[in-house]
Amino acid sequence: MLEGAVNCSILKRAQDKGLAKICIHNLRDYTDDKHNRVDDYPFGGEAGMVMQIEPIDNVITHLKSQRQYDEVIYTSPDGETFDQKMANTMSSLENMIILCGHYKGIDFRIREHLITKEISIGDYVLTGGELAAAIISDAVVRLIPGAIGDEQSALSDSFQDNLLAPPVYTRPAEYKGWRVPDILLSGHQAKIDEWKLQQSLERTKRLRPDLLEK
Ligand code: ADE
Repeated sequence: MLEGAVNCSILKRAQDKGLAKICIHNLRDYTDDKHNRVDDYPFGGEAGMVMQIEPIDNVITHLKSQRQYDEVIYTSPDGETFDQKMANTMSSLENMIILCGHYKGIDFRIREHLITKEISIGDYVLTGGELAAAIISDAVVRLIPGAIGDEQSALSDSFQDNLLAPPVYTRPAEYKGWRVPDILLSGHQAKIDEWKLQQSLERTKRLRPDLLEK
C-alpha cells in the first residue's frame, strides 16, 4: 500500500531530486517469531489482536542507532488532528519515524515510552495507519522547497493563511458559453490579486467558516 503511494507523483520526484528520502520498514523483519508474527492476544480478553512491543522497539532502536530523529510519530484516531500548520512544522524537520498502527492497536507501553507525537488524519477509523502515513508524507514533502515545480504554488495552497484557495481557470477563455471571469483576462495584476483575495475570503466564509475563527 505504501510502496505505491510514496513512489509516484510528487513523492517520487522529491526523492529523485534528493530532497527527501522515504524508507519503508516491515515489522515482520524485526521479530524472532518463527512465523514472523508481530501481534498477539490482548491481556484482559478484548476482541482483536494487539501489535507486540518487541518488534516495534527493535525497529525503532535499529533506526535510532543510524541517525537522530526529531519525532517518532504514531498514526491513530486518538491523535492530534493533522492540518496544514502541522504539515508546515513537520516539513522543516530533518528525520522522522512514522509508525503505522494496525489491528486493535499497539501495546500501550510503546505509546508511553517511544512515541513523541500521535497524529490522526480525521474522525474516522481506517484499517491501518499506512494510508494516514502516506497522506502525511505527501502533505509534508510537497512543502520542501523545490519539491513542486512552481515554488509559489505551495504557498498559495488552500489552508496556508487559513484561507481556501481561489478558483483557477485555464484556456479556453470560453467553453460552451461558460466564461472565465473577465478580471482574470484583464492583465491588471493588482486587481487580479485583489479579486483572488476576495474569492478566497468569500469561499472560506461560505464553505469553512471555522477556519476564519482560528
Ligand atoms: N489509523 C486508523 N484510523 C486512523 C486515523 N483516522 N488517523 C490516523 N491513523 C489512523
